[in-house]
Amino acid sequence: MQDLKKGRLIIASNRLPVVVKKTIDGGYKLGHTSGGLITAMKPVLQKYSGIWVGWAGNYLEENIAVDELLRKEGEDLNYKYRSVDISLKDYELYYKGFSNEMLWPLFHNMSAYCKFELISYKAYQKINRIFAHAIIDELMEDDFIWIHDYHLINTGKDLRKNGVKNKMAFFLHIPFPPLETFNRMPWRLNVAKALLSYDLIGFHTELDKKNFLEVVKSLIGDAVIDGTELDITTVITKKSKHKVGVFPISIDYDKFSTQARSEEVSKITNDIKKGYSGQKIILGIDRLDYSKGIPQRLKAYRALLSKNPKLRTKIKLVQIMVPSREDIEKYSELKSEIEELVGEINGKFSQLGWIPVQYSYHSLSRTELLAYYRASEIALVTPLKDGMNLIAKEYCAANIDKDGVLILSEFAGVKYQFKDDALIVNPYDEESVISTIKKALSMEPQDKQQRMENMQNNVKKFDVYWWVDAFLKAAKG
Ligand code: G6P
Repeated sequence: MQDLKKGRLIIASNRLPVVVKKTIDGGYKLGHTSGGLITAMKPVLQKYSGIWVGWAGNYLEENIAVDELLRKEGEDLNYKYRSVDISLKDYELYYKGFSNEMLWPLFHNMSAYCKFELISYKAYQKINRIFAHAIIDELMEDDFIWIHDYHLINTGKDLRKNGVKNKMAFFLHIPFPPLETFNRMPWRLNVAKALLSYDLIGFHTELDKKNFLEVVKSLIGDAVIDGTELDITTVITKKSKHKVGVFPISIDYDKFSTQARSEEVSKITNDIKKGYSGQKIILGIDRLDYSKGIPQRLKAYRALLSKNPKLRTKIKLVQIMVPSREDIEKYSELKSEIEELVGEINGKFSQLGWIPVQYSYHSLSRTELLAYYRASEIALVTPLKDGMNLIAKEYCAANIDKDGVLILSEFAGVKYQFKDDALIVNPYDEESVISTIKKALSMEPQDKQQRMENMQNNVKKFDVYWWVDAFLKAAKG
């Protein structure tokens, strides 16, 4: 693990990994969320007695004694959580509005979905200021600050404005768009300048980094790209110096792979296989999001069944959708579109004893998820644009029998790591998706095994602990 020399680690993200929940007796307790970020950050936060600043899911006007709940939570950890207090109205404009109806579609190169509203931008600025002040409240001289994701781009700028001299880094968990797309944003200059408040700016892929450097060159008049050493590019302006690097995020490979071998997962895997009586499972697991290309995938599957009657009853698409951002109009429209397509495909092709699409709209337990990964012949990971896509990495880590095939979109960040071993498709090209599914269905076991092993070795080597280490090493140097 990297040594930060001295000082603590302060991280900030929109959500804390704990969330306030109501109890049946009218009180409140903290619920825990699991995910890549908390898994990776926990050991480093513990090592440096760190602080995690974020939103705990409550609103100012609810008046919940969240600080007390978080203090108690911190007693057992060697780090603490610090929540930010936000009103419902501000949170909606900042989270739903600017973050998810402007930055999210813009950065995913889908600017037709963007709502460019000044009122949302103002709320974004305000909430980022609130985050900055929460950090300042906790800050000590040698602390290192690591800000995460598009919700908090401005926080660094506010920290600097308030005289903070500490080392600061930012990691973007979503893609960074090409210059022309970025330029559509009325506040492009402010956002570009805010990114240059950080000493280190990290991205998932070389493409994201390249896009960012183009934006810097074009919008920041005095910026000079000063060269690249050990993959880290230096940007110099009259007043400041910044490092820009590529750090593809990952998963805890060993944990996934060990859990996938457990008796419980093996039993459910067998139950799933038996339940489908020999049908080959094609798996799609996605958070409900238009960037994931779910309608396009369903349409390709519909065409596959229509053009290949012999495949009917032999395969099944299991499409699992994890609920997300449900109160945003585009997301609820998408849900309806997907459900209509599933209904149409099942209505058209179902036969006695066979339903072509099994669809669910709820979160799965880790055990169920692993069992589905293991039971599936093919994983269909076909986003229209994705920063990284950890489902692809999880599928490989869990595929302990090495008999699965990963079909992967060329627009997912993980493509750069898996390009030789996954079957790469353009999700907009229905014909190529169809022929690739057919190729995957008839692939030789040895070929599958070799490809899967290569991908597994890659994820094992570049796991989430490697990611944290590589980022902190670059920040420190
Ligand atoms: C993406 C973002 C994360 C975000 C997650 C879930 O992966 O990069 O920052 O937390 O989606 O979205 P939500 O809006 O539910 O936090």
